[in-house]
Amino acid sequence: MNAPLLKVENLAVDVGAKDGAIRIIDGVSFEIEAGGAVGIVGESGSGKSMTSLSIMRLVPEPPCRIAEGSVEFNGVNLLDLPASKMPEIRGRDIAMIFQEPMSSLNPVMTIGKQIGEAIMLHSSLGGSERRARTIELLKLVGIPNPEGRLDAYPHQFSGGMRQRVMIAMAVACSPKLLIADEPTTALDVTIQAQVLDLMHKIRKTLNTAVLLISHDLGVIADVCERVIVMYAGRVVEDADVRSIFRSPSHPYTRALLQSIPRVDDDRARLFQIPGSVPPAGTIKTGCPFYSRCPLRADKCATEVPPMFSFGSSHRAACWVTADALSGNRKKETVQ
Ligand SMILES: Nc1ncnc2c1ncn2[C@@H]1O[C@H](COP(=O)(O)OP(=O)(O)OP(=O)(O)O)[C@@H](O)[C@H]1O
Ligand SMILES: [Mg+2]
Repeated sequence: MNAPLLKVENLAVDVGAKDGAIRIIDGVSFEIEAGGAVGIVGESGSGKSMTSLSIMRLVPEPPCRIAEGSVEFNGVNLLDLPASKMPEIRGRDIAMIFQEPMSSLNPVMTIGKQIGEAIMLHSSLGGSERRARTIELLKLVGIPNPEGRLDAYPHQFSGGMRQRVMIAMAVACSPKLLIADEPTTALDVTIQAQVLDLMHKIRKTLNTAVLLISHDLGVIADVCERVIVMYAGRVVEDADVRSIFRSPSHPYTRALLQSIPRVDDDRARLFQIPGSVPPAGTIKTGCPFYSRCPLRADKCATEVPPMFSFGSSHRAACWVTADALSGNRKKETVQ
C-alpha cells in the first residue's frame, strides 16, 4: 500500500507554562491518503481547529505548544522542519480555508489582485498568464462572469461568493491537501450545499486531498470517506463514513448522530447531548466522556479506554462497546 499523504501520530498540544501545562490535544493519530477526504467532527472545544493548526504549525504559540508527536506529510515530519521552511509548504502543498471569509480577504484590494497574489506566492507566472489563471480559478469555483468580476472588491460579493473566492485563493497553487475548518458554518443551507459541491469538484478536478472540519456529521458525510470523531482533545472513533452511520461504536458518536439537523423534522434539531465538554485539563482519570455517557461502567471512571479495533479500519475508544463485542475485537493501542 502507498504511504499516506498525511500521517498524524500521537499529536499532543499543551497550553500554559511548562510546569503547569494543560494538555488540550492528547494522543491524536490519523491518516489521509493522497486525494482522499477525511472529516473531523466534534462539539465546540473538542480540539478540531487546534489539530488542523498543528498540521500547518500555526498553533498560537504562546500560550500553546506542540508537545509531542509527528505530522508526516509526504514522508517528511513537518514538526522537524525549521520554522522558516513552513511558508513554502503553506499554500503550495497544504492550504487552509476558515469559517469567516471576510476576515481572510483584504477589504481594500480587488478580488483579481488578491487571487493574483496567491498565485504569485509559489509560481513565477507573468502578468497575462496570471490573469488567465485567475479567471480559470474563478470559473472553477463557479463565479459567474469572472472577467467582469476581477476588479470588484470583497464587499461587492455575497457571503457565499466570498467563500468561493477564498477557496479559489486556497487552491491557486494546486495544493495536495486542503484543510477546510467549518467552511460552511456561517452560510445558509442552500449556499452551504453549493460550497460542499465545490469541495467535490475540487477533489475531482485537482485531485486535492481534503481535511474537512465540522461539528455536523451530515456535512462530513457529504464530502468525506472517513471520519475522525474528537472529544475533549482526543480521538474517540475513527472509521469510514458508512460504518459511522451503520454501526457507531462510541456512545458520543451515537449522540452526535442523533443531533444531526434534519430538514424534514424540526424536532430532530432540538436534540442536544446533555452536559458539556469538560474544560481542558479537568479529566484526570478514565474516559473523557464518562460524566455524560448513558452506558458508563465503573471501569470507565478510572481507566482511560485505549483505541479498540472493530473490523479492519474501524477504531473506537470505549470499554463498554469493546466488552460487549469482545468476541470480535482486539486491543490496539493505549492512548
Ligand atoms: N489560543 C488559545 N489559547 C488557549 N487555549 C486555547 C486556544 N485556542 C483553543 N484553546 C483550547 O483548546 C481546546 C480545543 O479548542 P479548538 O479551538 O481546537 O476546538 P474546536 O473543536 O475547533 O471548537 P469549535 O467547534 O468551537 O471551533 C479548547 O479547550 C480551547 O479552550
Ligand atoms: Mg474550531
